[in-house]
Amino acid sequence: MNVPSAVLSSTRSRGALLVSGVALALAAAGPAQALDADAALALARKSDCLKCHAVDKKKEGPSFKETAAKYKGKADAEQKLYVHLTTTPKIKVDGKEEEHSGLKTKNEAEVRNVVQWVLSR
Ligand code: HEC
Repeated sequence: MNVPSAVLSSTRSRGALLVSGVALALAAAGPAQALDADAALALARKSDCLKCHAVDKKKEGPSFKETAAKYKGKADAEQKLYVHLTTTPKIKVDGKEEEHSGLKTKNEAEVRNVVQWVLSR
């Protein structure tokens, strides 16, 4: 049988893509507990976070990519954001001071999942 070489090579590169995709997913999950991105996004949506934030564009608040970049390499990043999301700190929105909202959960692991999700954007 005569298989055109273009078909062979495209099959091969798709295989390579698949493998690198898996490697990326593993790297993003980090060494501790696995990050659940779907759950993080769902909770952020439910908690109205997306009213003021987006992953990659600035709204009332910084984009999550911007926050991830700001805390990149900082050892206390996770703790800082955990405090930010559990203590309703004062922030300025349109020049007016208001309390930053928290996540609609009492579950610490769910909060930490959102924190890790933000930091890995
Ligand atoms: C009313 C608008 C508003 C809502 C709703 C809101 N935020 Fe924010 N958020 C802000 C603003 C403004 C800032 C910047 C505060 C500052 O830099 O002082 C901020 C900052 C942040 C930061 C960065 C903190 C830091 O230390 O750099 C994170 C992370 C964040 N918000 C996540 C969330 C999450 C998660 C939710 C949902 C529970 C949420 N925000 C809801 C306006 C909002």
